[in-house]
Amino acid sequence: MLIDTHVHLLESKTCRPDWSEISYTFHVAKEKNIDVLCVTEHRDAVGYEELFIEIFLENRLGGQLNADGALQLAAGTIIRPAAEVSLFGGGDMGVHSDLNTVMSLSGRKNEYNVEDLLSFLSGRGEDYVSVAHHLLLNGKWWAGFEQVIHLVDAIEIPGKQASVMDDYLKLAVRHSKSRLSGSDAHTWIQLGAGLTRIEYEADRTKGVLGFDTALFKKFVLENETVPCVSNSADELVRIARLYKGRPGL
Ligand code: FE2
Repeated sequence: MLIDTHVHLLESKTCRPDWSEISYTFHVAKEKNIDVLCVTEHRDAVGYEELFIEIFLENRLGGQLNADGALQLAAGTIIRPAAEVSLFGGGDMGVHSDLNTVMSLSGRKNEYNVEDLLSFLSGRGEDYVSVAHHLLLNGKWWAGFEQVIHLVDAIEIPGKQASVMDDYLKLAVRHSKSRLSGSDAHTWIQLGAGLTRIEYEADRTKGVLGFDTALFKKFVLENETVPCVSNSADELVRIARLYKGRPGL
């Protein structure tokens, strides 16, 4: 199973959802044989609530909704609720959990430090996966990283920084962390820049969703996630940047 663990469906924090772009993003995911998209939308994005309510509660795009809020599209692609949370002191954490948990996170930027956020998640009593996102990007290193990294489940090997992938891998090894990769796509073009492979096939013949947070967590904690950064990652990122700057936006 191939999972993109870091996907945005809004082009920026100030955009509302563009539903034709989002539909096409899901089409491209199918074309690229991506089984799961984790929607790690910025929790402080103005369009977060509208996006998640329309996809996961009102089922705007059609499909089968799971008890934990995830959606399986008719084409088979699983869309999972998640969030990217801007931390107090700098940096971002990816949070994967059920719909109610990610919706109940504060939408205020820099509301949580790492301990506060993990304490909030633990207090919910639901499964979750926490990920240190793109630590080596400018300004994204966590304040007090050495003191808190043991609390986190995984370190991201971001597809959009393919040139320093080895540095990320060494960081994950040094701290004995699972490694997850995602595209950090803000448009359909960047999908596939980074993916996470797990040895699991959902049984879609029964029409049930075969991939929930508990299963994801199991693979993470057992260190059975394989980060896959595309050989074309740099090109995808470059073209996506041009697309985002297209006239009319
Ligand atoms: Fe992101």
